[in-house]
Amino acid sequence: MMFRSPCVTIIGAGRVGSTLAQRIVEKNLADVILLDIVSGMPAGLALDLLEARSIESHNRQIIGTNKYEDTANSDIVVIAAGFPRKPGMTRDDLLRVNAQIVVESAKNAIAYSPNAIFIVITNPLEVMTYLTWQFTGLPKHRVMGMAGVLDSARFETFIALELGVLPANVKAMVLGTHGDSMLPLAQYATVNGIPITELLDQETIDKLIDRTRNGGLEIVELMQTGGAFFAPASATSIMIESILLNESRLLPMATYLEGEYGLKDVVMGVPCFLGCEGVQRIIEVYISPEEKTALHNSAAVVRNNIERALEILG
Ligand code: NAI
Ligand code: 2OP
Repeated sequence: MMFRSPCVTIIGAGRVGSTLAQRIVEKNLADVILLDIVSGMPAGLALDLLEARSIESHNRQIIGTNKYEDTANSDIVVIAAGFPRKPGMTRDDLLRVNAQIVVESAKNAIAYSPNAIFIVITNPLEVMTYLTWQFTGLPKHRVMGMAGVLDSARFETFIALELGVLPANVKAMVLGTHGDSMLPLAQYATVNGIPITELLDQETIDKLIDRTRNGGLEIVELMQTGGAFFAPASATSIMIESILLNESRLLPMATYLEGEYGLKDVVMGVPCFLGCEGVQRIIEVYISPEEKTALHNSAAVVRNNIERALEILG
């Protein structure tokens, strides 16, 4: 019997999308279709990645296209199309331009891949994930946003740097929104099972939490020409791996909530088991009353922005 290779479509072949394509094929996870509105560009990137195959020792197919027909029957669709915030651009400007791009991408992609699981990367993350869920009409477990894995990886990195330990020994969990009000949870951060509260004083932990919250901005300020893409691509590839290999990893991701953490009809970053059907289970962990208030406050901001985006889209 012949089995077809899993296939991932990435919409938006910019820095994040193209780096993700490289991660997926070089980890031998799936064939990749890269789609962008810029004519020729995704085809050029695909050819470049294809020409590395003999050196990187894999046989994954990579196609670059401007046509949604070519994305038909994908198992996973990643939406990385849209713009990062540029100097002089308000949050509302970004919301306006990316909401239109994401909704157009989601509607076109679902028409050709009705069985796909959708992973959203475009910012503002929670709003774009909500719009993708709403405009594809998919059940909530098949639409999720990537940010928590990235923010947790940043927290893990800063903890490992501070302690001078192997980064892979550090495990951390960041919940909430992908923005200033995200919640890096120190009580659940450990070095091989030992809570960091046993290893670091509160002042140092607060400094690491602060750096995590500003992780995206720190890179934008250094680079000047755009945002992070290596770690965002790695974070997304782990989610794809967990889906395609049905690994049931416990990862934080933006998902539609129906009462969990006391929140309804909003998308927020929370820990979930992730497998071949998508979000298998949302996990409610204990968070302090202050953390719960912060989570509810940022959910209110996300909900406002969802309403604003729906208004813009008419
Ligand atoms: P980029 O500017 O390098 O790439 C964006 C790509 O989207 C461009 O190639 C552009 O041509 C394409 N595009 C624009 N409109 C399109 C449309 N209608 N259909 C198809 N493609 C379209 O940007 P980059 O750095 O790759 O970032 C992409 C998005 O991901 C941004 O919104 C950024 O803020 C977000 N991001 C989110 C992260 C997260 O943790 N959730 C982390 C890093 C970036
Ligand atoms: C990041 O966190 C800006 O979302 C982007 O790097």
